[in-house]
Amino acid sequence: MAILCNRAETAVDFGFTEEQLMIQDVARRIAQEKIAPSAEHHDRTGEFPLDNIRTLGENGLMGIEVPAEYGGAGMDPISYVLAMVEIAAADAAHSTIVSVNNSLFCNGILKFGTEAQKQLYVRAIAEGREIGAFALTEPQSGSDATAMRCKATKQADGSFVINGKKSWITSGPVAKYFVLFAMTDPDKGARGITAFLIDGTRAGFHRGKTEPKLGIRASATCEIEFTDYVVQPDEVLGEEGHGFKIAMSVLDAGRIGIASQAIGIARAAYEATLAYVKERKAFGQPIGSFQMTQAKIADMKCKLDAALLLTLRAAWQKGRFEAGGAKFSTEAAVAKLTASEAAMWITHQALQIHGGMGYSKEMPIERYFRDAKITEIYEGTSEIQRLVIARNETGLR
Ligand code: CAA
Repeated sequence: MAILCNRAETAVDFGFTEEQLMIQDVARRIAQEKIAPSAEHHDRTGEFPLDNIRTLGENGLMGIEVPAEYGGAGMDPISYVLAMVEIAAADAAHSTIVSVNNSLFCNGILKFGTEAQKQLYVRAIAEGREIGAFALTEPQSGSDATAMRCKATKQADGSFVINGKKSWITSGPVAKYFVLFAMTDPDKGARGITAFLIDGTRAGFHRGKTEPKLGIRASATCEIEFTDYVVQPDEVLGEEGHGFKIAMSVLDAGRIGIASQAIGIARAAYEATLAYVKERKAFGQPIGSFQMTQAKIADMKCKLDAALLLTLRAAWQKGRFEAGGAKFSTEAAVAKLTASEAAMWITHQALQIHGGMGYSKEMPIERYFRDAKITEIYEGTSEIQRLVIARNETGLR
């Protein structure tokens, strides 16, 4: 029997395979033994958890869906969800780093890269030896991603020279390799964007200051800037002019990762709340016996289960897509929207039920609340998820 949410009464048998349950167990063990004990420290100091990331890499968790021949665990999208939930329940910042490496970095190169690119870039990241990042957003273009200004100018020898800025780059301060999207033909709009593979140790690449953030504080974020950075023809990812489609299809997968992260954060808040309402007394009774608390618990449970089921559906659809089935953009957007809004709501209620203790840094509840917020913003805001769902459902723009 496959146990979801770590609670017997929410057990659902999805017919999970031995391998899926094994990677969930590995993720849970590392999450509980290594990540959870240092989560408060990483949140307080903002220190990047390099040691823990190396451990995750050594155990296949930095390249869960990456085939073994490129250094990964060779698992499926359901395994990715199960592992991500465990890591996020221990610490959201770790799960952000894991998610970007898995879905935005490795996934894009596996799908669109050459054999040599997979060997060079994917292997190092999947094994946890290096950190990968994804550079799409710019200071003036977030949701409207095609409005980017970072420019790649083609030279006579087929190389490109890159100039411009990218902002809010997760793992930017520590990453060695980046998947970068830059405008190669501004007259063509979305069809004038190309994807490139960048080495952050080369001339012309600069990192800005680490951004101070509300949550996921140990997942370092910064601006990056290119001044006459030269990209060789074999460092172009996919075809010239196909960069926007690569970004969008990679984000479809990424949104399943963020949905899983949101579920992990929400589950941690929910489980802490369940324990607290049985133990904390007011007016001579455990506060869990009051109807107002019970209503909150019931609604938390419904939102958490719905988010998990929709995210597993999206992962299942992704697996079918990879075997030649239909796209999973809608399912991924539904999962991310539902899970991120559930996480925000559940952590809000958890904090309210904990009262002053929830507001205090003595307990992790206020961290869950701060960490949950980002899931409604990155990899496409809730507004963008609604736009994607409605466009796909109606066929209208
Ligand atoms: N898969 C493949 N191709 C896709 C696609 C998908 N899911 N969605 C769109 N496309 C294609 C379209 O078919 C179209 O192709 P043609 O030119 O051949 O017709 C092309 O891309 C342009 O599509 P649209 O006209 O729909 O583009 P748009 O400008 O209207 O934008 C959008 C659509 C949904 C708003 C998109 O810009 C978007 O998703 N914006 C949000 C960006 C985002 O998620 N940013 C997150 C930053 S990364 C991050 O957060 C990482 C991190 O740090 C953790």
